[in-house]
Amino acid sequence: MFQVNDNYQKLPGSYLFSTIGKKVSAFSAANPDKKVIRLGIGDVTQPIAPAIIAAMHKAVDEMSKAETFHGYAPDLGYDFLRNAIVEHDYRARGCDISADEIFVSDGAKSDSGNIQELFDVHNRIAVCDPVYPVYVDSNVMAGRTGTYDAATERWSDVIYMPCTMENDFVPDFPKETPDMIYLCLPNNPTGTTITKAQLQEWVDYANKAGAVIIYDAAYEAYISEPDVAHSIYECEGARTCAIELKSFSKNAGFTGVRLGYAVVPKDLKCGEVSLNAMWARRHGTKFNGAPYIVQRAGEAVYSAEGKAQLKEQVAYYMKNASVIKAGLKEAGYTVFGGVNAPYIWLKTPAGMTSWEFFDHLLEHANVVGTPGSGFGPSGEGYFRLTAFGSYENTVAAIERIKAL
Ligand code: MLT
Repeated sequence: MFQVNDNYQKLPGSYLFSTIGKKVSAFSAANPDKKVIRLGIGDVTQPIAPAIIAAMHKAVDEMSKAETFHGYAPDLGYDFLRNAIVEHDYRARGCDISADEIFVSDGAKSDSGNIQELFDVHNRIAVCDPVYPVYVDSNVMAGRTGTYDAATERWSDVIYMPCTMENDFVPDFPKETPDMIYLCLPNNPTGTTITKAQLQEWVDYANKAGAVIIYDAAYEAYISEPDVAHSIYECEGARTCAIELKSFSKNAGFTGVRLGYAVVPKDLKCGEVSLNAMWARRHGTKFNGAPYIVQRAGEAVYSAEGKAQLKEQVAYYMKNASVIKAGLKEAGYTVFGGVNAPYIWLKTPAGMTSWEFFDHLLEHANVVGTPGSGFGPSGEGYFRLTAFGSYENTVAAIERIKAL
């Protein structure tokens, strides 16, 4: 008789955004007359920018002719895209990263779930709490997290680094020494971030502890303050301790197109073993490359036209963030984030739990958000709204919340 991977049985409930999706579908089915506004999952709403659409059309046409047709993509990514990434995302910022350290993928969610495969099952992981659930859940599936305590909502072998209003959402160095440290900056879900000087402290800490930092920079395009690093490789020493994950979903609206990349520096080693070589081996074995059309779309993100159009798109979403923040403040809420990230993190009112507030908002304002406790125990009593809706829906949602 075959056996299954028992670690899956340890996972409590379903994936956060699946649970929310089911709740909202049930509400809509029961209330067909109510127009629900979704500010829950961080999914973009604006169309792909014209410069990118033009590049995709051109690539589609190329696929229609034998002379310009493309079959399997190189498993690590086309050079045209890897070179554009290096030039614009790294060299332009003074970061020493080369094209053979870039691994093009179908998105940062896959990379952040898959990257743990490179590490021993006995490694201790440290995560911010609250945290993007993929980091913890993928480690649960791998059997790295120990046992789950339903009362505390914590895994025995995970090191939690609480990020709450009491510490300005800046994680403290953990008391126990971790082997793998997940950092998402600017942060999902809290919408807050840390300064480059604070990030440098994490790099120094990791190098000293012999730990690896898995640095999720999916929201980098939303940074507006000058003292915030756009890449962990702006910090000295990051090449020996950090893997960076990037997404095209949030800066270019590729949530449905799918494209991302991981940076694994050649200096990142465990003894003599190169993680760059390991990740290349893994990619070659398990991944057939992102589609040519999509990689051409990714290249257009870095064109002068593409950059200008995407700057406007980011500004559009950040205007929503200001609307949400100002409106909620006016209504007496305590709010965070929304300056360097497209998420607003708020304290639930009147001592409601995160899920109580979720139900309250859905029922009385027909607005969907994300309960903070879905991101970890320290998220209890908080709630997340995304700025990725349309402007009109964002304004309408805030008016409804103000009227509660
Ligand atoms: C979120 O809402 O946290 C994100 O959109 C999820 C994701 O990027 O996978």
